[in-house]
Amino acid sequence: MGSPAPERIVRFSGTVRLAHWLLASTFFVMLFTGMCLYLPALSRLVGRPTAKAWHLWSAIALLVGIAVLLLIGNRRSLTGVVRDADRLDQDDVAWLKGGPRRLFDHDDAPPQGRLNAGQKLNTMVMLGLMVVLAISGTLLWLGERDTTYRFGGSVLTHDLASLAIGFLVMGHLYLALVHPTTRHALRGMVVGDVDRAWAERNHATWAMSESVQSAERNA
Ligand code: HEM
Repeated sequence: MGSPAPERIVRFSGTVRLAHWLLASTFFVMLFTGMCLYLPALSRLVGRPTAKAWHLWSAIALLVGIAVLLLIGNRRSLTGVVRDADRLDQDDVAWLKGGPRRLFDHDDAPPQGRLNAGQKLNTMVMLGLMVVLAISGTLLWLGERDTTYRFGGSVLTHDLASLAIGFLVMGHLYLALVHPTTRHALRGMVVGDVDRAWAERNHATWAMSESVQSAERNA
């Protein structure tokens, strides 16, 4: 007889997962087309007008997609993840004091919520950088049409924010796809649920509150 199927708990709603994969797919189109605009060697692959159009339309698709999800999706779950990320409690501060070691050593880590303190920081810094990219990108677009909107720092700001988010995404991909203790999280972002045992080890505060809520629902 095989071992029993692991018990699972829901980590991300369909709306959160859709928002994440919309963000990821539009991000990679913007990254690739942005690189084609920046690096002459790549501009031979995709011509400037095409790269610019895809770059702009993927930014618009991201904005419109998120607006649609907020209007007709599970808004509470989407804003709930951002609210989670926006709050650092005492355990998060203790987690952060452990520094980068925490990424590799969960054994003596303070209990964490649905997102650990590193993921909270990652989310808020990424969101901040995306706002910077959207504003500087809009100024670049306007500046090509009207010199009033041409500012010396727009290009540099857009380039530096792209570089910073590029590094964050590389770290994010390593944790999501390669690192043994964190890669189980991919299941949560693909199908929505994760193994309860994994959640209890890595996100104990959240796993505990999920158990209490499900006991209340079943009472
Ligand atoms: C193929 C590419 C990607 C994969 C496989 C991936 C995977 C994941 C997974 C598994 C999670 C959940 C982590 C957890 O439950 O503990 C997650 C969360 C998240 N992802 Fe991605 N992701 C990708 C691309 C991106 C991109 C391009 C961005 C932003 C530009 C992004 C931003 C985020 C954010 C802000 C979170 C929540 C906080 C965090 O886990 O750090 N992801 N991603």
